[in-house]
Amino acid sequence: MTLDTIRTVAVLGAGTMGNGIAHVFARSGYDVILRDVEEGFLARARDTISKNLDREVKKGKVEAGEKSKILGRIRTTTDFSEIGRADFAIEAVPERLDLKLSVLREADKLLPAGAILASNTSSISVTTLAAATSRPARIIGMHFMNPVPVMALVEVIRALQTSDETFQTTVALCERLEKKPVAVNDAPGFVSNRVLLPMINEAAFSVMEGVATAEAVDAVMKLGMNHPMGPLELADFIGLDTCVHILDVLQEGFGDSKYRACPLLRKMVAAGWLGRKSGRGFYSYKGQG
Ligand SMILES: NC(=O)c1ccc[n+]([C@@H]2O[C@H](COP(=O)([O-])OP(=O)(O)OC[C@H]3O[C@@H](n4cnc5c(N)ncnc54)[C@H](O)[C@@H]3O)[C@@H](O)[C@H]2O)c1
Repeated sequence: MTLDTIRTVAVLGAGTMGNGIAHVFARSGYDVILRDVEEGFLARARDTISKNLDREVKKGKVEAGEKSKILGRIRTTTDFSEIGRADFAIEAVPERLDLKLSVLREADKLLPAGAILASNTSSISVTTLAAATSRPARIIGMHFMNPVPVMALVEVIRALQTSDETFQTTVALCERLEKKPVAVNDAPGFVSNRVLLPMINEAAFSVMEGVATAEAVDAVMKLGMNHPMGPLELADFIGLDTCVHILDVLQEGFGDSKYRACPLLRKMVAAGWLGRKSGRGFYSYKGQG
């Protein structure tokens, strides 16, 4: 499958990442089949994409007349078999190995033989996912960042089995989406989470040990290191449960205790203080919707 033969893209999962991925493909002229398990999730995704397009129109990134054309290129469905006419597919279902394996196996059966099947996983081994399909050479990691329409990076992760052709087509596709692909080999946490999470973890240890307050830790990193967001603000944005999950993946994957999650992070998760999504994490978000 080469770049110019790709016209229709299937996106599996219409949640936080899936709606953003559908948005950027449609914005770049691709026909998108967006699949989720319930109509309600698809309606919510369509609504989010519409609001995000309004924001892009306001900012001048998208012309006003383009919005309806972009939305018109996204077909939503709960019927898995519709992906059979896609030239390229990417899954963005929840981060559970059993679920990813079953979705990939099903997609593998439905897609044309030459189609590339990508995963947006943030921590599962792409090599393991590839081995579960009949097209391991055409499986690749395509790790978009949240929010997808805004963030430039896509970590393009080569499984051990990924062919050069699959890799080159995927990189070219990212460029077509006006993203910045960065090549990475399959390893726990890839590069993004392997480098980011230990920093967040150390920031949490600094608070737990009374070295500084959360505000002070974030101020040091913003003012001194020029980070646009402090590590603890970012942890709240990602979700503290997700942070602990990724640290567990790093510790297990490398067998190295240097990745052990800070006990304060675990305690906050146990209390239900998950960050922005629960209204409280290192900061309080009450009244911020
Ligand atoms: N949220 C982030 O910041 C972020 C960043 C990078 C990568 N990721 C990765 O992206 C993936 C998706 O994460 P998310 O945050 O969008 O999750 P989410 O929970 O917001 O969305 C997942 C969607 O998949 C749907 N789904 C479940 N089973 C399905 C199936 N069999 N077929 C089709 N759809 C199905 C769910 O109904 C839900 O709408 C995960 O692998 C995650 O690790 C997330």
